Amino acid sequence: MSTENLALYQTRVERHLQQVLQSYQPTEPKLLDAMSYSLLMGGKRIRPFLIYSCGTMLGANLNDLDGPAAAIEALHSYSLIHDDLPAMDDDDLRRGKPTCHKAFDEATAILAGDALQTLAFEILSQHPYQNVAAKDIVAMIQHFSRASGYAGMCGGQAIDIMQTNQATTVAQLERMHRLKTGALIELTVQLAWLCSPKQNPADLTKLQQFASALGLAFQVQDDILDIESDSQTLGKPQGSDSKANKATYPILLGLPQAKAKAQQLYQDALNALASLPYNTDELRQFAQYIVDRRF
Ligand code: IPE
Ligand code: IPE
Ligand code: MG
Ligand code: MG
Ligand code: MG
Repeated sequence: MSTENLALYQTRVERHLQQVLQSYQPTEPKLLDAMSYSLLMGGKRIRPFLIYSCGTMLGANLNDLDGPAAAIEALHSYSLIHDDLPAMDDDDLRRGKPTCHKAFDEATAILAGDALQTLAFEILSQHPYQNVAAKDIVAMIQHFSRASGYAGMCGGQAIDIMQTNQATTVAQLERMHRLKTGALIELTVQLAWLCSPKQNPADLTKLQQFASALGLAFQVQDDILDIESDSQTLGKPQGSDSKANKATYPILLGLPQAKAKAQQLYQDALNALASLPYNTDELRQFAQYIVDRRF
């Protein structure tokens, strides 16, 4: 895809996140440094991109979209800090730099994750929305909580840990992927829709189908890259899944079948967009970027 808007929205959400962190008094400098290190040290910012792209397509106000976009990135950064901890994936490299617990220490990394998680809710609930009704702000907080917690990302991470070193079926693997990664990606279209003035239920259904296919495709590609890429390109350790004996698509199905699965999901994502009465070019290009990406 033209990476122009991806770069534009990356800069936009980073500026917003920087401002939020700067508004804190540096009374706990080490914790604040760890939060800022993990939140601002890179990352593709694909979840904010989806909120901005989908939201503007639906006629939402760009300033309003800054709230959920910044919030989801804070939540995602927390999930990565905890994902890398010795008790979970035990990885040393993230976004091309030492992971939070390596750059600081384990206790600080746990706390930085905790504080970024609550920061996400602080941003989402306190954002100065101009064109979003109070009931829709509450609905955003409800969807955000559910997708991040037991019934979403955390639940998926629990399955991931439990499935390690275990025989796994494709159905179990799919459920894990849909929760640990898909839930937050599906959340992006829900948040964009709640910020939009139209709120047509038929649009939401199609967008959810799109995001559901895209979310699974995203994690299938993440699993493929763990085998095919290299640590420098990825910015995280290549081979981490195989080393830990994780259940992944290529490990379960083989690389060619995993790639075919990603392509099938890409087509499903495009099909879901096809009947939407908007210009979906940017979302289509983004879906292609997700399955073609090398990091
Ligand atoms: C990595 O997410 C973790 C997964 C859910 C696969 P990203 O690939 O979006 O990581 P960053 O934010 O770009 O570093
Ligand atoms: C992580 O999945 C999903 C999260 C909820 C953070 P992975 O463990 O595959 O993510 P990477 O490969 O470390 O980025
Ligand atoms: Mg993991
Ligand atoms: Mg990991
Ligand atoms: Mg991975």
